[in-house]
Amino acid sequence: MRLQEPSTSSNGCPQRILLVDDEEDVLRGLRCTLDRAGYAVTCANNLHGALTVLERESFHLVLTDLYLGNRELGYRVADAARSKKPLTPVVVLTGRPSFDGAQEALRSHVAEIVVKPVEDRTLVATCRRVIHETELSRRNQELETANKVLTAVLPRTIEMKDPTTCGHSERVVGYADSLAMRCGVGAEDRANLRLAALLHDIGKIGIPDHILTKPGGLTSDEMEVVRRHPAMGYEVLASLDNHEDVRNWVYQHHERWDGRGYPQGLAGAEVTLPSRILVLAEVFDALAEPRSYKPAWPIEKIVGLFREQAGRQFDPDLAKLVADGLERRGRGFFGGQPDMLF
Ligand SMILES: [Fe+2]
Repeated sequence: MRLQEPSTSSNGCPQRILLVDDEEDVLRGLRCTLDRAGYAVTCANNLHGALTVLERESFHLVLTDLYLGNRELGYRVADAARSKKPLTPVVVLTGRPSFDGAQEALRSHVAEIVVKPVEDRTLVATCRRVIHETELSRRNQELETANKVLTAVLPRTIEMKDPTTCGHSERVVGYADSLAMRCGVGAEDRANLRLAALLHDIGKIGIPDHILTKPGGLTSDEMEVVRRHPAMGYEVLASLDNHEDVRNWVYQHHERWDGRGYPQGLAGAEVTLPSRILVLAEVFDALAEPRSYKPAWPIEKIVGLFREQAGRQFDPDLAKLVADGLERRGRGFFGGQPDMLF
């Protein structure tokens, strides 16, 4: 009779355990327990045998006795397992736990020390838990990698395409988030807005280089191509499941309060608040930073433009909020804690 349901990996095959013990009767007993729990068990009865198996096979877990012969060679097994596959969890069995042994276990990244004698049920539960925790850790690493691609690699790609905008996306994230906080936007929408701000110009990837980096003015045909980048951004982000808001805010980041923006010519509150925030954040960065074709604008000049364009390019309440804040605190307005809401 099985102790629990079989332990299978994602491909439906039994999870594989390397079991190392130099005492044949113990090895047999442990193997029997793990077999019954549904694991595919490979046995080795000495260090050399374990290292040989680890050279050619990988395992979901390595379970090894600490003493092989009369030396503490279990940690050598652990080191070998992890040098081959760093995420392989190792559980060490010992009848003689010690402080030094615990320190050595830490050094070798041993997942758990199990003190013998151990009940079958406890041993199997430990194996299941350690394998499960390792799987979670592996998935976490995958998510972190995907997150880096999204939040670092993609913005960098946009900058390589349009070198005049170095650091633009990251700064717009900060400005937009600061404004959103002042406007009382909720935590979830703020997180989505940060993502939209980071990726707002991703559609520029689809604009030919000779247009994107052309010095001087663009022809009306070239301008038409540039104006496609919000729609291209919307398309590029199509595979971002459950982030329709992010896509829409990217799509709307060149709309204007007076309806003369693009691509849809939406007006007033037809443009979502996060997009209206994004418009201000992006324009502020474009003005406040030097570009190849212009120096950075002084704050007073930026304040003047926000006041002049309130109700035209910009949401009038937002434009007033930013203009007043910049007048009072300069660039620190975007960096500090919010001191007003509306
Ligand atoms: Fe843009």
